[in-house]
Amino acid sequence: MWYLHQSEKRLLVKLAKNEGTPLYVYHKNTLNKEANKYINLFSPYNVKILYAFKANSNKDICSFLKSKGFGADVVSGGELKLALNLGFKEISFSGVGKTEDEIRYAIKNRISFINIESYEEFLTIKKIAKQLKTKASVSVRVNPAIDVETHKYIRTAQKYSKFGIDFKTAFEIYKDVSKSRYLFTDTIHFHLGSQIFNESFYSLALRKVVDFVKSVSVYGTNIKSIDIGGGWGVKEGKEAEGHYKLLKVIKPYLDRFRFILEPGRSVVASCGVLLIKVLYRKKVYNRYIVIVDGGMNNLIRPALYGAFHPIINLFNRKNNVICDIAGPLCESSDYFGKGLKMPLPCQGDILAVSSCGAYASSMANEYNLREKAREFII
Ligand code: LLP
Repeated sequence: MWYLHQSEKRLLVKLAKNEGTPLYVYHKNTLNKEANKYINLFSPYNVKILYAFKANSNKDICSFLKSKGFGADVVSGGELKLALNLGFKEISFSGVGKTEDEIRYAIKNRISFINIESYEEFLTIKKIAKQLKTKASVSVRVNPAIDVETHKYIRTAQKYSKFGIDFKTAFEIYKDVSKSRYLFTDTIHFHLGSQIFNESFYSLALRKVVDFVKSVSVYGTNIKSIDIGGGWGVKEGKEAEGHYKLLKVIKPYLDRFRFILEPGRSVVASCGVLLIKVLYRKKVYNRYIVIVDGGMNNLIRPALYGAFHPIINLFNRKNNVICDIAGPLCESSDYFGKGLKMPLPCQGDILAVSSCGAYASSMANEYNLREKAREFII
């Protein structure tokens, strides 16, 4: 986590004044530290880390991670374009609804692999590769049917999830790919969800996937890489930890397979804060509602998942009261937090909302015609 010392608090206040609020600020040293946790742990092994652009697709962050040796995991033509423009060499492309144009773009640029997410998508990829007379590298995103412990909106591998493909259909696809002139595969993929803290879900999925790989090898499909997706959790306001648990999960298989990881949040969450300014306070019975100038358009996670990102007042105030921190949008779910015991902020105070390096700016929108907040790296 980017711990804010007094001098950094002063710097952030200055930035907020000069650049305006709401403002996302990312701290390069913290990003570097989080990236190094992955690099130091996994680089002795045959493991490739693809950074999940969806967590934060800020150009400078992505290109910094590229300079550290990360590849890219993308889920749209827009993210793919950015990854290609930034010169990423290893790129995987997932998503249940890739359009023909996006598939064509990926094949033409010979990305590392396209993750197939349905039988019909497989047929489309096969058709386009043939039209382009270009060999497309593919992988199947299988659905291991594992209901991970996390918020229901960010589970992606339950039995009836829209993501991935059941093993029976995946088997047919691998068999077909091995006979196809324009398709190639040596990879299999799964992604269980996000904010996962218990590595046993990955172990369970991996056991199922390795068994499956044995069964397709009978038909001549030689799968050499297993992409276990992303999802490693980070507690809001804390730094990412416990990466060694992921290594423990894959270690028994490292002699047989190359592994791919697709972390997003655990690389970038802790390096960012959202700076917001206190506009007005009002007392409602025994509590204060503190209205700030940023809202759920800048950080939708509290409204959408009930997440709480600890909030730090960059000014030192005294005497705790009960506060609700509310955004300016015409929406009753537009709160950063409710019932918080904290000193009452003054008008003009700058608050830093923690863990806004991931899924904050990348999920931002312009609801109520509010402009997207700017991003700044220090
Ligand atoms: N790979 C795939 C195929 C994914 O779908 C995702 C995230 C990742 C990798 C990266 O997962 P991470 O390491 O960041 O957990 N908006 C939600 C999170 C949605 C994650 C979607 N997929 C949130 O704010 O909590």
